[in-house]
Amino acid sequence: MKNRIQFVCSVCSSSSPKWQGQCAACGAWNSLAEESISSRTSQVRLGSSSNYSGDSQVTTLDKIQLDTQNSRWSSCDPELDRVLGGGLVAGSVVLLGGDPGIGKSTLLLSTAAALGQSRKVLYVSGEESLQQIALRARRLQIPESMNLTLMAETRLEVLLTQISKDKPACVIIDSIQTLAIESSTSAAGTVSQLRDCTAALVTLAKQQNIAVILIGHVTKQGQIAGPRVLEHMVDTVLYFESDPSSRYRFIRSVKNRFGAADELAVFAMLDNGLKPVSNPSAIFLQQREHPVSGSIYFANRQGTRQLLIEIQALVDQSPVPQVRRIAVGLDAQRLNMLLAVLHRHAGLGLFDRDVYINAVGGLKATETASDLAVLMAVMSAFDDKPWPIACCAFGEVGLSGEVRPVPYGQERLEEMTRQGFKYCIVPKSNMPKKPLKGLVCHSIEHVSELANLKSSFTL
Ligand code: TYD
Ligand code: MG
Repeated sequence: MKNRIQFVCSVCSSSSPKWQGQCAACGAWNSLAEESISSRTSQVRLGSSSNYSGDSQVTTLDKIQLDTQNSRWSSCDPELDRVLGGGLVAGSVVLLGGDPGIGKSTLLLSTAAALGQSRKVLYVSGEESLQQIALRARRLQIPESMNLTLMAETRLEVLLTQISKDKPACVIIDSIQTLAIESSTSAAGTVSQLRDCTAALVTLAKQQNIAVILIGHVTKQGQIAGPRVLEHMVDTVLYFESDPSSRYRFIRSVKNRFGAADELAVFAMLDNGLKPVSNPSAIFLQQREHPVSGSIYFANRQGTRQLLIEIQALVDQSPVPQVRRIAVGLDAQRLNMLLAVLHRHAGLGLFDRDVYINAVGGLKATETASDLAVLMAVMSAFDDKPWPIACCAFGEVGLSGEVRPVPYGQERLEEMTRQGFKYCIVPKSNMPKKPLKGLVCHSIEHVSELANLKSSFTL
């Protein structure tokens, strides 16, 4: 049979008979990729559809039997459990994306080994040979006696047969981009292959109650390579993030059907693999003997926990008329807005200055609760007078200069106390009801109060 060709958008999966620079359905540029139409028929042969077809019987909620003991189990890594919302869920599909070399295979091989002690786990690699996996396992100090089943395979059909034979509780696939339906003419990693392989694995996970973890490559823009529908099809989407120079790695949950989204896990990359960091605030807190201008701590809420991170600012005379506003780990648009508020309501104009702000440690602090800390860092960088050494702040700043309360105030204050902070500046409504041990709290209602507050600290 002669294959017909169509062009499929990698963002929205809509198809077009001819190539176009822009997708007519979603408007994305350069997103159309060639695919053979006959590949769609192979999907039917595999018995899968692009969405889970479900159990066709009709029932009521009270008749559904829940196996609470086996429906969610620990991944044996407290930080991974945190981003998964408390552990792996039987019948769920997790997609873990991240830059090359960030540690996806390292993390999941150790997870597979740890899980293998209590359950049957199948680790499938399409990227490495069995010898290479064994070498990595040796580096990770995984004993050879460990009950871990490995497979180097890229053909989906072979994989599905093996899974039906072995009946593992968990399958880890490294990576979804290397997997291909053999009977399809499209190459591995193309839009249709990614969509069809994921659909087959989602169906398998739900029908056989297997927890499936897929590793996904990311594009230059930092999104998982392949159609956006991939993220809709799976239950949980996790992203690995890191500062290239740092040995710390973060996993953020951007979607989770079984837990909180925007949860953050922190790991340290050591010689023998990724190790969970149990007190992440401590790694972002630099011990200083003297206060430094342009620096302030911010109590950031990441998912269900608080992280204290340092916000630094630099304000410099601009050599050119076009000033620069650069934000690393913070929202650049919001920085512009905050500088306008600072000028209009606190009388501090920075028209001829370049302003740089940075969330130290490679973390992203995109919460609006960082507004007050950003303004405090900028003020201190401008007048070259520091805030006290162990000072932390949070609060949202409105366009009329008011400092608005933020959620989880008490939890943020408690984390400051735990980390030994001495001073904090918080919105009035977030002031603690009871005094907190060793923490002096100052309340603020309007940005115009910042200058007086700053001069009240005797350093
Ligand atoms: P890897 O897990 O292969 O990355 P990915 O699968 O995301 O592409 O990680 C490779 C990097 O991790 C490599 O730069 C070396 C480093 N590494 C360690 O520092 N310690 C270790 O124990 C291992 C196995 C890797
Ligand atoms: Mg890898």
